[in-house]
Amino acid sequence: MSASKVRVLIADSLNPVAKKMLEDAGGFEVADRAGISAEELVQEIADYEVLIVRSRTKVTAKIMEAAKCLKIIGRAGIGVDNIDVKEATRHGFIVMNAPNGNSVSAAELAIAHIVSLSRNLVGAGRSMAEGKWEKKKFMGREISNATMGIIGLGNIGRIVVDRALGLKMRVVGFDPFVSEEKMNAIGIEYADDLTTLLSESDFLTIHTPLTEKTRHLIGAKEFKQMKNDAYLINCARGGIVDEAALFEALNSGEIAGAALDVFETEPPKDSPLLDHPNVYCTPHLGASTREAQILVASELAEQIVDYFVRNVVRSAINLPRVQADEQAALWPYVLLAQKLGAFAGQYHEGTVEKVDVTYHGEEFEEGGVAMVTNAVLQGALTSGLDTPVNLVNAPILAKKRGIDAKEHFVSQTGTFTRLISVRVSGGKKSHEIRGTIFGENDARIVQVDDYRVEAVPEGTLLVSRNEDVPGIIGKVGTLLGSVGVNVSGLRVSPPRKGQNQALSIWRLESQVSDETVSKIREVAGLHACTQIQI
Ligand code: NAD
Ligand code: MLT
Repeated sequence: MSASKVRVLIADSLNPVAKKMLEDAGGFEVADRAGISAEELVQEIADYEVLIVRSRTKVTAKIMEAAKCLKIIGRAGIGVDNIDVKEATRHGFIVMNAPNGNSVSAAELAIAHIVSLSRNLVGAGRSMAEGKWEKKKFMGREISNATMGIIGLGNIGRIVVDRALGLKMRVVGFDPFVSEEKMNAIGIEYADDLTTLLSESDFLTIHTPLTEKTRHLIGAKEFKQMKNDAYLINCARGGIVDEAALFEALNSGEIAGAALDVFETEPPKDSPLLDHPNVYCTPHLGASTREAQILVASELAEQIVDYFVRNVVRSAINLPRVQADEQAALWPYVLLAQKLGAFAGQYHEGTVEKVDVTYHGEEFEEGGVAMVTNAVLQGALTSGLDTPVNLVNAPILAKKRGIDAKEHFVSQTGTFTRLISVRVSGGKKSHEIRGTIFGENDARIVQVDDYRVEAVPEGTLLVSRNEDVPGIIGKVGTLLGSVGVNVSGLRVSPPRKGQNQALSIWRLESQVSDETVSKIREVAGLHACTQIQI
């Protein structure tokens, strides 16, 4: 963490525990600007490295354009619908959410709506407020033994299942990503398809995200497949249920009632559902409990501290997922990969069209190294772009430049336990740089094309190829001395069988001008010289 404090702006009302945790961690300066307007945010965001929001603040492209040193946009909650994630990714901002803290509260609200619908609690309350006593009208039904159909068995869905089983409901689940075996293991039945689930449910509760696939997942066709006395509960996201179709289904008696916590437009405008007698609405209250607000605020604050203090990224929407414990082990390789990419990109000296990253060693797992590959691309692109490149935007920028990036896996490593090879190709040339970690986190380049080397990839390096004859090293050293540049190290790899040139890696204490590099290239017997900045 740098010596100057990380500046954090809190834009929405957030439990004070987040500010306290950041300040107690040291190194953070937190401005609580809850309620700040969009215009004020555009004016003030330039100085902040972290922006924390809940759902009120819309984090737009305009705000991001004005953010000059932003690193993290933190969402205290799960949904990031109010953040332009695509734009954030383009800028290289990490979008982090707090996905777990409000799960119990959201699940409890769904259960509360099920109980409320089963006994007409809202309708009966409204009727009494009008001075009536309508015992017959509000005949309810038991939920014991009733069937709860559940769509989506993630964090919240599973908690809802647990509570529903406690209430002695029969539960049937539908989630294309959860197997029959897993559903049976948590005590519920498996529906092969949505139609089966719809036809069996007395209470149908939804717990999926809103995606292109789930938009209007429940519409006119689906209501026709439901029981006429069934209830629908949506505490997930507005838009999963087609509200116009729901209104029709209620009026035509296709279903008995619904409870909605989320709406296609929030707050809903002129929706006929709001005062429909068989619809119970809450204003997106799933996470509105004291406990959930403390949990999401502290979950996010902990993640921000982890990022700046331990270099661990958790719950980033726009970064490859890595478990926190695996991330600590992977981090030295992320840093190595940035250096290998930077070395390879500059050594290539030309357009890079293809980047092949080969992971040697059984501990590198397919699917687990995307962050390391991003780091290679970050390194390879950094020298050639104006846009700041980081782990977040590197794959997009690479794609935009037509760079084809591929991962390969090899179990054998030879001398080293783990080794990363980066091959950059383009313009009929190709170079391969290999590196590894010595000890806990000492990055080393161990091979440049066919040359075995041992170079610390840091600072300014001069890589030259020369005939293996006396005098060349001396001439290069003299030239460097003549421009006042100190050489702090030199490694020469002699030609191997079949080669007639040696490869030298000079470590310089400062950069040299292009003119000096050109002069070095003119030394007789020297065939190539590239300055590399890492
Ligand atoms: P999650 O990612 O843990 O689980 C989502 C589940 O949905 C996954 O198991 C996934 O496989 C499943 N799924 C995805 N597409 C599906 C499809 N087409 N059909 C069936 N299942 C599908 O998410 P979560 O934390 O459980 O959150 C669930 C929802 O609740 C989200 O929409 C979230 O935004 C919302 N939420 C609302 C509130 C609130 O205040 N009302 C609070 C928190 C979360
Ligand atoms: C979430 O996305 O976490 C919930 O919808 C609650 C909230 O708006 O914070």
